[in-house]
Amino acid sequence: MRMYDIIRKKRDNKALSYDELKFFIDGYVEGTIPDYQAAAFLMAAFIREMSKQETVMLTRCMMESGEQMDLSAIPGIKVDKHSTGGVGDKTSIVLAPLVAAAGIPVAKMSGRGLGHTGGTIDKLESIPGFKAELSMEDFIGNVKRTGVAITGQTGNIAPGDKKLYALRDVTATIDNISLIASSIMSKKLAAGADRILLDVKVGSGAFMKEEKEALDLAETMVAIGNSSGKRTIAVLSDMNQPLGMAIGNALEVREAIDTLKGEGPEDFYSLCRELAAAMFMLGEKAANMEEGREMADRLVSSGKAAEKFAEFVECQGGNPDVLEHPEKVLPKAEEQMLIKAQKSGYIASLDAESIGIAAMLLGAGRSKKEDRIDPAVGIVMQKKCGMPVKEGEAVAIMHYNKEDGLEQAVRLLEGAINVSEEQPPKPELIKRIIE
Ligand code: URA
Repeated sequence: MRMYDIIRKKRDNKALSYDELKFFIDGYVEGTIPDYQAAAFLMAAFIREMSKQETVMLTRCMMESGEQMDLSAIPGIKVDKHSTGGVGDKTSIVLAPLVAAAGIPVAKMSGRGLGHTGGTIDKLESIPGFKAELSMEDFIGNVKRTGVAITGQTGNIAPGDKKLYALRDVTATIDNISLIASSIMSKKLAAGADRILLDVKVGSGAFMKEEKEALDLAETMVAIGNSSGKRTIAVLSDMNQPLGMAIGNALEVREAIDTLKGEGPEDFYSLCRELAAAMFMLGEKAANMEEGREMADRLVSSGKAAEKFAEFVECQGGNPDVLEHPEKVLPKAEEQMLIKAQKSGYIASLDAESIGIAAMLLGAGRSKKEDRIDPAVGIVMQKKCGMPVKEGEAVAIMHYNKEDGLEQAVRLLEGAINVSEEQPPKPELIKRIIE
């Protein structure tokens, strides 16, 4: 087999076989296929597009390029959850203990943040003592003991995707549904869970800005999961404004704790409730979404979800007092600044991407992989879309420790806030559920 012929076939829009895709991925990981041939293949795949069948096979080849987690030592149906990334998205911190409290084992691998979106691992590390890089033994041991563990990527998961993703980043071949879907799903399938829930974000703060393309991505990923024998559900949710009120690591942990106690923002809890209901269905603890929603409400109001959170934090070395006294345990920024409305009216839009970048400039995120983050800083919204506001009233509060980047962050945040005279319709948070 020759890489030249595989590129030519894709260029001429002919269907590729599993063996050809396998030859490409394995050869690229081993280094026998150079970057220039991989780049030519990617561009051909981008322009000609991959069929559904090719996308499923590419996913499988990338999954098989590295380790595949064996979670069989953990009894029960393991349900994983993945979000395509958003601003203020702290759902995993609520869902992991909430789902574990229902008796579904959660063995979750999460990532760090880059650009305008945050990462669960960075958020959890703002809890003093919390250890987010677990050995495989501790990871599985913790799930067996408490029902839940979250770790950064362990082992050599989907190296074919890792190398190809870096090449896509510099060859203008990122934004293609088949390539994104196979990239995400190769890692999810290798992570070893039995069932998968996907939270596909759509809007200004998301990868997918339009509902049509987000739906296409969600359907492609659901098809890949199901055809790999892992039942998969996707929820399409809004990311035109930040999720909840808090953006920034410790600030988001605090909001997640409030939510586990039944005191979180309405939009954020309603998304958590929907995602939890889908996970209960996947884990065969609820027969349908309505039963799942009621179950989520019961686990929150009884305090069981919050208790599970404290147990999970303690098991990973963090201070469990964070549940009762987050204000004492979590790091706090030294300075605060109010961002005020320039006129009276209603909040018409809050550009999630600009708000995410503003938080990153304060130090809550990274513009490059090597950047260090400040766990204490970020932004807490005081208003969300559709709410009335008076001139001079606070729309957001910035929490910061250094002046560096502050001015630019203020400008971005102010520019992200739009006030209109007429009350706009309330944005629809859950757009669709795809099975
Ligand atoms: N996230 C991934 O892991 N891969 C993509 O291609 C895009 C987003």
